[in-house]
Amino acid sequence: MAQAKSKAKKIKPILKTNYLSHGTVECHNLARARRFYEEVLGFEVVQTSKISLMMRHGKGTIIACVETRRKTAAGVYSHFGLDVDDKAAVDEAHKLLSGARKEYGIKKITRPLVQHGTYSFYLIDVDDNWWEILENPKGGYNYVFDLKESNQDWREQKQGRTRVAKGKRQITQRKKKKAA
Ligand SMILES: [Fe+2]
Repeated sequence: MAQAKSKAKKIKPILKTNYLSHGTVECHNLARARRFYEEVLGFEVVQTSKISLMMRHGKGTIIACVETRRKTAAGVYSHFGLDVDDKAAVDEAHKLLSGARKEYGIKKITRPLVQHGTYSFYLIDVDDNWWEILENPKGGYNYVFDLKESNQDWREQKQGRTRVAKGKRQITQRKKKKAA
């Protein structure tokens, strides 16, 4: 299949922004949500107002959580992904979460699956937010920006496994270069 080659294209955006500072999720009970973010997902959390908090996983993009009254309805494609090292770590996380499911009111935990080369599963928290636990090289999906663009269906990409491996290789090569 033909691959798009827009990398060389210089696009001049209308907006000139500096940084992707945050995304947001909603919850219905801030204290309950905070407990889940800290005790289950392992975020560093700080309360920012009567109805809001912010969480982060290392320095970078932050997720803000706002307590709302209305029913929230995020879908599977409105999720945040948390990376672990490998397939075994995904399975381990799945086991641990299944054990904690009742206590934290986790509504759904999907089966771990290989999709587009990434082994992962999803969970829906008590406030209907979707989270994904996935295997990824260090640095998350940043490696994708060093690869050729593709217009194939992401889900059906047979080369997914190869893509992840290639990403891992590139990171190793970069490290070697740095060390040399
Ligand atoms: Fe994802």
